Amino acid sequence: MKNTLFKKKILITAGPTREYIDPVRFISNESTGKMGYAIAEALHQMGADVILVSGPVSINSSFPKNKIIQVISGNDMFTECEKYFKTIDIAIFCAAVADYTPIVTSKIKIKKIENNTSLELQKNRDIAYEFGKIKRNNQIAVGFALETNNIHENAIGKLKKKNFDLIVLNSPNKNEGFGFDTNKITIIDSELSLHSFPLKLKKEIANDIIFYIRNSNKLVTSENKLEQIVV
Ligand code: C5P
Repeated sequence: MKNTLFKKKILITAGPTREYIDPVRFISNESTGKMGYAIAEALHQMGADVILVSGPVSINSSFPKNKIIQVISGNDMFTECEKYFKTIDIAIFCAAVADYTPIVTSKIKIKKIENNTSLELQKNRDIAYEFGKIKRNNQIAVGFALETNNIHENAIGKLKKKNFDLIVLNSPNKNEGFGFDTNKITIIDSELSLHSFPLKLKKEIANDIIFYIRNSNKLVTSENKLEQIVV
């Protein structure tokens, strides 16, 4: 199969974000970044020009350090990604960006009080959604959906709302999703066809996802498409 991704400019987001409440406390999630880094490594090896915008993770990766932009919060991740929106060919939104962030971050450690307390949160901007609004016809966007219920409906809803060309659906079951080396995914394309895969290593899944990107209508003509062999 022709390497349609050679020299393509690809933006990948990976890992969690941290939304600080005070200097030592934050809101985050269990994302380890393994999936995003696995995709970045595979694409880099194929000769793509990859920029990885990564939240705080501890990963031993062969992906070149000078191609990683380290960020902390969802707002930082948005700011860095936005710089690339116009020039990239493909965006892969793997990051588990926190949906909400504290309205105020205290500069000093918040003291315990006698009574209950509450935290006021505001919505983080959605990187994938904002890119989807300005995406050109020749740009490809790939999203992820981690769902626990109405999984297909929710994933399809996100595919449409965020103008993705592909969405990768997974669930937080044992050995799947956050933290594990393995995952079980279904890829849904813009024609709403479902492609389900067995439990595999994230490194192998990266290649399955890349196969669908390479085979996208935007990169190959219908006569050059290859059939995927699911193993
Ligand atoms: O959080 P949600 O399930 O809506 O995430 C779906 C997709 O949107 C994922 O690909 C995620 O990386 C992306 N996203 C984003 N910016 C956000 C929230 C989600 O890019 N603030």
